[in-house]
Amino acid sequence: MTYRREEHVLIPESDLEGMSVDTLAVRAGQIRTGQLEHSDAIFPTSSFVYGSAAQAAARFGGEEPGNIYSRFTNPTVQAFEARIAAMEGGERAVATSSGMAAILATCMALLKSGDHVICSRGVFGTTNVLFQKYLAKFGLETTFVGLTDMAGWQAAIRPETRMIFIETPSNPLCEVADMAALAQLSHDNDALFVVDNCFCTPVLQRPLEHGADIIIHSATKFLDGQGRCVGGVVVGPHNLMEEVYGFLRSAGPTMSPFNAWVFLKGLETLPIRMRAHCDNALELARWLEGQGTVDRVFYAGLPDHPQHELAKRQQSGFGGVLSFTVKGGREQAWRFIDSTRMISITANLGDVKTTITHPATTTHGRLSPEDKEQAGITENLVRISVGIEAVEDLKTDLQRGFEALENYRQGTV
Ligand SMILES: Cc1ncc(COP(=O)(O)O)c(C=O)c1O
Repeated sequence: MTYRREEHVLIPESDLEGMSVDTLAVRAGQIRTGQLEHSDAIFPTSSFVYGSAAQAAARFGGEEPGNIYSRFTNPTVQAFEARIAAMEGGERAVATSSGMAAILATCMALLKSGDHVICSRGVFGTTNVLFQKYLAKFGLETTFVGLTDMAGWQAAIRPETRMIFIETPSNPLCEVADMAALAQLSHDNDALFVVDNCFCTPVLQRPLEHGADIIIHSATKFLDGQGRCVGGVVVGPHNLMEEVYGFLRSAGPTMSPFNAWVFLKGLETLPIRMRAHCDNALELARWLEGQGTVDRVFYAGLPDHPQHELAKRQQSGFGGVLSFTVKGGREQAWRFIDSTRMISITANLGDVKTTITHPATTTHGRLSPEDKEQAGITENLVRISVGIEAVEDLKTDLQRGFEALENYRQGTV
């Protein structure tokens, strides 16, 4: 205790051992300077100075630990990394400039030309593009499989398979993967099991406990929670993270200290925000099911969702994102979206403000028509990232969309 109070550095990890994710979100990883600030300090500096040329040489040579340059390490970024690693229960986290940079860095660091990846079909559209268009140029082959199609995963395995990559729940259809089964399949075949935990965050789901080797986050989403910054993070064991760190240090897509500071502030409220997102989303999902112009609602919190029981086992809440199809096609989906007044029409998710989007022409717009069809991204699909506004007010706004559809159906507009 005297250490912590007198030297004003990090709250030692051992003092927080065994504490809940709610506490870790607020307390883990904080660095306190000699100024005794209560909030996290921000270090907006590109480089760091040394007491002597000999010390500079020792730092560069790796004989002495310490900061050199902010593309390598930065105290604010390290505080964010330490906090998210503690929350996920991982040995180490490495922060990146975006969620996509986190996926890219993981693949560049841990895979090589000739390797094979199996990726779930329903991933974020740009993840799909990264694998199919860019990583393919460097000799990495990717097979896409339906998230819940266990026979398909097994059939896709090849001797060169080195990674299984999934998002669970998936974006935007909220399918849920059996992580333990996929971890087993990966490890039986000497492949890494990588989980994008963007939708659940460590508050609702900790994939390492279900056998994942690596966790990816787009910090841009719930971790920030207020739509301010783009960032990402990779979490996993020391040996793998050292490789990811090495790639980032050399290639450059690292997190800025300012963004790390915003994410630290975001994490402090993450647990209470996630509970509010989940409550609102479940209430809205039930309400949407009762609307005449809705065909189908996709949300794992609904008892008739095919992976409802699995989601209950793996997650402590069903998350803040849901999707639904309206009766009709793109015309009806767009009319519905355009008739809301308060909800933001934007492709981002995980914000305290509710957002609405048409996946087929935005987040998943770059997929080929065949890929869209296989991934279930239909023209009448609408995705809502449910915020923390009063749920009755969200219903009022969405009701405007349903009225517009009804008027259109009756030919009165
Ligand atoms: C599940 C998921 N993973 C990764 C990303 C990419 O993150 P970023 O936009 O921070 O690069 C997104 C972005 O929407 C996402 O939804």
